Amino acid sequence: MEVVIFDSPSEVGCHVANTIEALLTSNDAPVLGLATGSSPLPAYQELITRYRSGSITFEHARAFLLDEYIGIEEDSPQSYRHFIESELTRHINMRPEALAGPLLSPASGTRAGYDYERRISEAGGIDLQLLGIGTDGHIGFNEPSSSLASRTRVKTLMAATRRDNARFFAGDEDAVPRHVITQGIGTILDARHLVLIATGSAKANIVALAVEGPVTSMVPASALQLHPHATVVLDEQAAKHLTLHDYYREMFELKPERMGL
Ligand code: GLP
Repeated sequence: MEVVIFDSPSEVGCHVANTIEALLTSNDAPVLGLATGSSPLPAYQELITRYRSGSITFEHARAFLLDEYIGIEEDSPQSYRHFIESELTRHINMRPEALAGPLLSPASGTRAGYDYERRISEAGGIDLQLLGIGTDGHIGFNEPSSSLASRTRVKTLMAATRRDNARFFAGDEDAVPRHVITQGIGTILDARHLVLIATGSAKANIVALAVEGPVTSMVPASALQLHPHATVVLDEQAAKHLTLHDYYREMFELKPERMGL
């Protein structure tokens, strides 16, 4: 696992945008996995800026959402599809039909998870999966105790996650759905490169557990330790409890350019 630490969230965003730019320029049909939440926003803003300046194109890119609420219409402002469209894809030249989400309609029932997995594999798998981390250690919506081998399926949110996400529902915790559909941890681990973003001191404890603690389903993000190409991009606030903080800083400063991002 590579841990990269910057002074500010905007530098974190630039680094993640550099990583995505490297993929876009080296791959004819790049497949992105996109995460919601506030952590990836500086990266999305940077990507929009670079697209507008003509330095990158998303013409041949495809994207898969990490997760989605159940019981919220896709075009509602609270849906994750709507979030990604308004924060990123509407402002770049990605074809609207190139963005896929794990829609769960009453008719699709339990098949929705299988169907989404099939669509991801038909696209050739995900090249780069962006991730945030919940304060309880969740990635996607894989709450603690999720199997590290889990696939796309329905999950029930923990009270703490609904509380954290109430800010997107005008502060009304009761309005946050109880059920979601999420890529499983096994699905996430299938992506070729995982990039987890965390900023702010509220994430410092869980980042230390995920990066330096034991691999356990009680901290779903600790599964990144099992991946051969996982990058954790942090600001100083989120990195402050890492035991090997100085080593990570040094490792990145000394990283040979030929190793890429
Ligand atoms: C939600 C999403 C996660 C995201 C998390 C953290 O729960 N399902 O994918 O990582 O929020 O969000 P934030 O980056 O706003 O802290």
